[in-house]
Amino acid sequence: MNKNEHEKLFIRFFDYVNGFREPDGHFCKLLEEKLKHIKGVTADALFIAKNENWSEEECLIAELCGLYHDIGRFSQYKEFKTFSDSKSVNHGQRGFDVINDNKLFDGIAESDSKILLDAVHYHNGLELPKDLAEESKRFTNLTRDADKLDIFYMLTEAIKTNTLDNHKDLLWNLPIGEANPVIVEKLMNNTQALYSDIKSGTDVCLIQLCWLYGINYRSTFIKLKQTQTLELISLIMPQTPEIKACLEHINIFVNNCIY
Ligand SMILES: [Fe+2]
Repeated sequence: MNKNEHEKLFIRFFDYVNGFREPDGHFCKLLEEKLKHIKGVTADALFIAKNENWSEEECLIAELCGLYHDIGRFSQYKEFKTFSDSKSVNHGQRGFDVINDNKLFDGIAESDSKILLDAVHYHNGLELPKDLAEESKRFTNLTRDADKLDIFYMLTEAIKTNTLDNHKDLLWNLPIGEANPVIVEKLMNNTQALYSDIKSGTDVCLIQLCWLYGINYRSTFIKLKQTQTLELISLIMPQTPEIKACLEHINIFVNNCIY
């Protein structure tokens, strides 16, 4: 991957995405927000790669992983009018197909194109395929970290600017409410919780905190610390002994991953 190829792939991405604009030239609100998320993940992917001291070429590929990771969202939304994979298609698989069908990576070295395709394909899976090539694994894990960083960023920005009411989808349109003890137990046992156990906005926050057990790079924890993610999320959670214990537990975990 060189800078020319990197630029070419940026142009091809936006050429493809521009095809989803409304007749008046704008994107509909949900696609506009998705594009904002994509730009955030692109910047976060580059941040992680740089802070992990990856080579210049690896940083170029990492940035493209962020840019392309959700390319499947556009045709998913056009076809099904939803971002819910369970009600439509797996958007990682859809992104993989879109890139191939539109020949977006034509002319790019096969080794680079494979890394990018794997990162797009597997960025949203519960687990990575066991036989995923080592090189692909590094970039897919980085993409997964960057994706989570931007989701935390959107939530904490809404908390900081007191605009959560305008972004109710960030908490799955649920009121803050009480914590589900099943999710609390998972968090205290350093394991991932199930989305099907979410019953309140508090549960959404707790489940996102459980994601931290699946973070792959130290730089991701550093960014979460810099942006005061835990402190900001704790502001909207009920101040019960269980929640305080969860926050204390996760704070210790994050500190252990950094220092
Ligand atoms: Fe995604």
